[in-house]
Amino acid sequence: MESAPKRLRIKQVFSSDPGDSVEIKGWVANKSSMGNLIFATIRDGTGYVQVSAKKGTTPPDAMAALDSATKESAVAVVGVVRNDARAPDGRELSVREFRVVSAAEVWPITKTAAASATYLYDVRHLSIRSRRTTATMKIRSEVVGATFDYFREKGFTLISAPSFVQAAVEGGSTLFPVEYFGKKVYLSQSAQFYEEAALASLEKVWIYQPAFRAEKSRTAKHLTEFWMIEAEQAFAEQSDNMKLQENLLAFIVKRVVENRPYELRALGRDIAVPPVPFERVTYDEVRDQAAKQGVSFEWGEDIPTDAEKLMSMAHQNPFFITDYPLSARSFYHMTYPDRPGVTRSADLIAPAGFGELATGGQRIASYDVLMERIRSQSLPPEAFGWYLDLRRYGMPEHAGFGMGVERVTRWLCGLKHIRGASLFPRTMTRVSP
Ligand code: 4AD
Ligand code: MG
Repeated sequence: MESAPKRLRIKQVFSSDPGDSVEIKGWVANKSSMGNLIFATIRDGTGYVQVSAKKGTTPPDAMAALDSATKESAVAVVGVVRNDARAPDGRELSVREFRVVSAAEVWPITKTAAASATYLYDVRHLSIRSRRTTATMKIRSEVVGATFDYFREKGFTLISAPSFVQAAVEGGSTLFPVEYFGKKVYLSQSAQFYEEAALASLEKVWIYQPAFRAEKSRTAKHLTEFWMIEAEQAFAEQSDNMKLQENLLAFIVKRVVENRPYELRALGRDIAVPPVPFERVTYDEVRDQAAKQGVSFEWGEDIPTDAEKLMSMAHQNPFFITDYPLSARSFYHMTYPDRPGVTRSADLIAPAGFGELATGGQRIASYDVLMERIRSQSLPPEAFGWYLDLRRYGMPEHAGFGMGVERVTRWLCGLKHIRGASLFPRTMTRVSP
């Protein structure tokens, strides 16, 4: 009696022995016929494999079921593993049994339809089955998984924070108001203030959760809902904070390069682990260099997109831009004692035009200094009640940062637009599917 076929996931087919009888379950990614041969590419969550059937050799009922299977139908296949140099990656299954588990109607994403990016995002619930999106999501998952491992190893505690909040962390212009039992509250822009509160007991904290920004600009790097990795350390200065960021990013890239070579290849990406420490360039140096290339901006303004792009294009590896003017930063930033207009902060910038990945800085720890800052920026002190209160009960020097998961994924995957780094992106013009 023949032994029952081994149930494998597709990736395992490539490490099993020729002659093995195996069962796979997945979806029909492609199908073609040539004379008395039928070929199909079956996809599951681990990869793709070719299956083939031949009139006269394949049992007739299996042949008929394969013949009837439409693109994207869910199927179960029993077959014999064969080496075949003509098959992708040199392997295929000779079909013995073929069953349609759930038939697909005519697949709407034709080559012509796929030429429209808008259409692809209109049917994102279907178009996410593509090789590119699959590879991107595996890399994204690796980015997040590496981050969990990194912070655990460094002794950081993972915390959570509310999404309904009352304070603007990053300024009022990008707040999303929400009606909350007759009161106006907002969706959280950043969990930073909650991390600062958690420091006094946990000392080193990090968080991974969605952030919301009412971004009115349509750019290739802004979503209205995105995932942020944030970390905050007590008894730490901005130099410690930058070390933490560069080591984290290098760790993430190493993990992706080691664990996702297949996906990087599918995306045509060749990424090297960046050496640490990353280069540090000051805001003033950026201003000078940009001016030399014809992009001028006033001291005190935030670095304009085209200047950041110039700098990013000129680098092979991620780097920091440090020492931003206070006028270009949020109110909570600490400044240098001898340069009251300059903050101890930095942006982490990806090379090759991808731009900002993270922003971080040292926070004001003193109650009086923070109160003075709030007043001098004409902010309402009552809006920052508990945030100020933290400074009355033992607040040491501390620093932290926020890194956008989709920004990092976009860079690693080389995506034109950040929306590709989100399974179901949210932008100013898209809240569906
Ligand atoms: O630079 P941001 O605004 O900094 C903060 O929110 C700080 N409070 C973080 C902290 O220090 N704890 O946002 C941090 C990062 C950016 O560098 C970027 O990677 C990402 O979050 N980000 C966005 N990603 C996608 N779409 C948007 N609209 C984003 N806004 C920020
Ligand atoms: Mg920023």
